[in-house]
Amino acid sequence: MRALTYAAFGGPLSVTEVPDPVAAPGAVVVDVEASGLCRSDWHGWLGHDSDIVTFPHVPGHEFAGTVRAVGEGVDRAWLGRRVTAPFVFACGRCPVCRRGDGQICPHQRQPGFTDPGSFAEQVVVYAAATNLVALPDDVGAAEAAGLGCRVATAYRAVTARAGVTEGEWVVVLGCGGVGLAAIATAAARRAQIIAVDVSKDALAAAAELGARHTLIAGDDLPERVHALTGGGAQVSIDALGAVATARAGLLSLGRGGRHVQVGLLPAASGPTPLPMDRVIAWELVVLGSHGMDARDYPPMLAEVAAGRLPLGVLLSGRAPLSLAEAAKALPDMGSSFHRGIVLVDPRRETK
Ligand SMILES: NC(=O)c1ccc[n+]([C@@H]2O[C@H](COP(=O)([O-])OP(=O)(O)OC[C@H]3O[C@@H](n4cnc5c(N)ncnc54)[C@H](O)[C@@H]3O)[C@@H](O)[C@H]2O)c1
Ligand SMILES: [Zn+2]
Ligand SMILES: [Zn+2]
Repeated sequence: MRALTYAAFGGPLSVTEVPDPVAAPGAVVVDVEASGLCRSDWHGWLGHDSDIVTFPHVPGHEFAGTVRAVGEGVDRAWLGRRVTAPFVFACGRCPVCRRGDGQICPHQRQPGFTDPGSFAEQVVVYAAATNLVALPDDVGAAEAAGLGCRVATAYRAVTARAGVTEGEWVVVLGCGGVGLAAIATAAARRAQIIAVDVSKDALAAAAELGARHTLIAGDDLPERVHALTGGGAQVSIDALGAVATARAGLLSLGRGGRHVQVGLLPAASGPTPLPMDRVIAWELVVLGSHGMDARDYPPMLAEVAAGRLPLGVLLSGRAPLSLAEAAKALPDMGSSFHRGIVLVDPRRETK
């Protein structure tokens, strides 16, 4: 099959022929129809997860497609089903999984990180009984791809982690794939959303999804949020992953506020200096959020079905990239940002 590969961190990406994957016991092989270009793919390419990647490596971890083969022990009813899967393939058996926290399973595998990813014609889903998510018929592959990573991650950050409720002020820093999905989820809970980005396009999308205020990022952001909210927000979400956004999120909170860190802060860029004095004095809560267990998907899919999460609005509007086009777009993420979720369709062929 054709796949996007690289052989060194930060090295060139190319479209190569690699062996077709086989469905190991408990696993399935999925024909990929759409795969989102997530900023975590860029982190991975730069070696921010260097301890789990082996070369040549196939990136991509946020996908939708159709099951083409099932391994030993997997229910054959999955054959031909349209599916996605959380990017954290939980083992399904350990104590952490059994208590419902597969998103932090210590034995997890991740497509595009520990294993070959979805910027390829086919991708393997391990522990299929635990991790496969059947897609509703009326959700197309383009809309569904984000459910594998950014939409589900944002959904969990807003619901299970921050516990956002009606009327609360929620500041979302970074309005890309994660941020827009967080805004859509918070808007469905009738929160009052302040969207922050450096891009007017991103902020326009945020407003379309229900953000009440849209602010261009800047050093005075916490002061502007305190002024708008009369004492600080209840919830902040770092949906970029930078020292500046993590700090600004915490400092934008009012007393007792909750900050959710979704954006990656790679160890390679050094420790993140957080205002712990403020965390103590104002009893702020700092929460991490990492994907979402497949068992937690049904309520999210119900919100999609009810029209409360408009997946189409989260998309970039650009035509899906071919693998060759993705080979250029992935490295470019260091210097460019795109509105919403940019998709790769590995079935498209271009030079
Ligand atoms: N924790 C998890 O499970 C998880 C899951 C998915 C993604 N992530 C991480 O979340 C982060 C966001 O990923 P994404 O794919 O949504 O990114 P993205 O590139 O789609 O969006 C980033 C947004 O941030 C904006 N931005 C840039 N500089 C800014 C600044 N100074 N202030 C505010 N906004 C700024 C950009 O214009 C863009 O709209 C990344 O770090 C990614 O690796 C984590
Ligand atoms: Zn991702
Ligand atoms: Zn486990």
